[in-house]
Amino acid sequence: MKKIILIKSSVMGMQSHTKRMLDSFEHSWTENHKNTAIIQRDLIASPLPIMDEDIFSAYYSVPEQQQSEKQKEALAISDKLIEELKISELIVIAAPMYNLSIPSQLKNYFDLIIRAGLTFNYVNNERIGLLKNKKALILTSQGGLKNANKSDYFVDYLRDILSFVGIEHTTFIGVEGIAMDTSRIELEHINAETQMKNFINNY
Ligand SMILES: Cc1cc2nc3c(=O)[nH]c(=O)nc-3n(C[C@H](O)[C@H](O)[C@H](O)COP(=O)(O)O)c2cc1C
Repeated sequence: MKKIILIKSSVMGMQSHTKRMLDSFEHSWTENHKNTAIIQRDLIASPLPIMDEDIFSAYYSVPEQQQSEKQKEALAISDKLIEELKISELIVIAAPMYNLSIPSQLKNYFDLIIRAGLTFNYVNNERIGLLKNKKALILTSQGGLKNANKSDYFVDYLRDILSFVGIEHTTFIGVEGIAMDTSRIELEHINAETQMKNFINNY
């Protein structure tokens, strides 16, 4: 049985464009791959603990018997998030653009899953990502338009952070310009849906 994970991070509720894309993806995916276990990770509906000094020190320096309840709980959550990724062959991330970046909840998710020895290691001074043989599909939405003459650090960041943990095979599908001109919205989504269907057919 295939296992995939869907990660939501929009604060726009039912109005969310990345949610619309993710729902459409899930619908098309289950039509094509009926025997799939889908893990749902909604970072807004089920908030995660925020990485702080307590949590970071629990990762690396506080022995288990000296950990506070907060530290134990946060480590258990971090372990669970990492396990979800380990068992998933495809990671689908809905990544809206907020203030030129990803939602803070999604950044915090990365802070909780990036742990030395578990998702990456240093070997001979080289960093090695440990989540191997996985693909990621990133569904993006931005109110404005991409600037073709500028490097896209939003996309670059997501590609790099996934590569950090060993996920090298990344595909981006997105809608853009939807806040500037509402007449674009349906066309953008139709285009994104076609690309998602192609992704699924060629998977
Ligand atoms: C807090 C906030 C900040 C935003 N910042 C940007 C931005 O920097 N650039 C941009 O093009 N659109 C920006 N937008 C518009 C969103 O990218 C757009 O609404 C997109 O559809 C968000 O995805 P979602 O609908 O799945 O939440 C912002 C929206 C919000 C709510």
